[in-house]
Amino acid sequence: MTTPRAPHPVLDRYYRRDEERRPFVIGLFDASALYYDRLCGVMSLGSGQWYRRWTLDRLGLRPGMTLLDVATGTGLVARAAARILRDPRAVVGLDPSAGMLREARKTVAGPLVQGQVEDLPFADAHFDVLTIGYALRHAADLEVAFRECRRVLKPGGRMLVLEISRPASAGRRRLIRSYFMYVLPAIMALTTRNRHATMLSRYYWDTIATCVAPEIIKDALARSGFVDVGRRVFGGLLSEYTATRPEGVWGS
Ligand SMILES: C[S@@+](CC[C@H](N)C(=O)[O-])C[C@H]1O[C@@H](n2cnc3c(N)ncnc32)[C@H](O)[C@@H]1O
Repeated sequence: MTTPRAPHPVLDRYYRRDEERRPFVIGLFDASALYYDRLCGVMSLGSGQWYRRWTLDRLGLRPGMTLLDVATGTGLVARAAARILRDPRAVVGLDPSAGMLREARKTVAGPLVQGQVEDLPFADAHFDVLTIGYALRHAADLEVAFRECRRVLKPGGRMLVLEISRPASAGRRRLIRSYFMYVLPAIMALTTRNRHATMLSRYYWDTIATCVAPEIIKDALARSGFVDVGRRVFGGLLSEYTATRPEGVWGS
């Protein structure tokens, strides 16, 4: 059996062909950008920003470093990073959605660039740290994405991928599914009256439910030239993948 290159198959409830995935995803985030922070706040019961900052701290992010936040969205990871670095200019945010970048501009003081993970508009060996927060599921090809991430990291640079993973136990899976498919959409429908914000929650779950296994993500990281590939899981749901661009031959 061949290893899938995309993080999840075509989801024909939303779009029919692989070529339609990217326009669909960007359109969905454009249309729900105004409500994204509210969705995250409800989803994480208000702990999301604290958690993002804690993961960056544990990764070893320190003042003096530079960070690229891929799929920055409204800038939640970028903001957490800027607080640690005490310098908003040290954090560059990248996202393909003009709507998300418009929202990010309201609170992110550093540079924001329109682009996608598969084709990063930066020179080789440019950043100390690279983050992808809850967005890997939207990439078209895991290895293409990871190779680009490795390219723009300095040798020895660290990458952090935050993801929500499908819980292993069937009971937990049913519970989380109900939350994403019914509770969260109901809250979003009531508070935003925006059908895209409501759909985003359901789409979120469908991509989590159909996402490739964590081992495939770790394999893709290793095949893309990363070392020290690791994964930590919190509450059976929150995954943190970490990886390092090696020094030396691979890193050059
Ligand atoms: C769920 S939001 C994550 C935002 C933020 N990182 C966070 O921690 O909340 C996913 C983001 O991924 C972006 N995205 C989708 N496809 C992408 C791609 N191919 N490359 C980079 N970003 C992408 C979307 O536009 C959206 O802003």
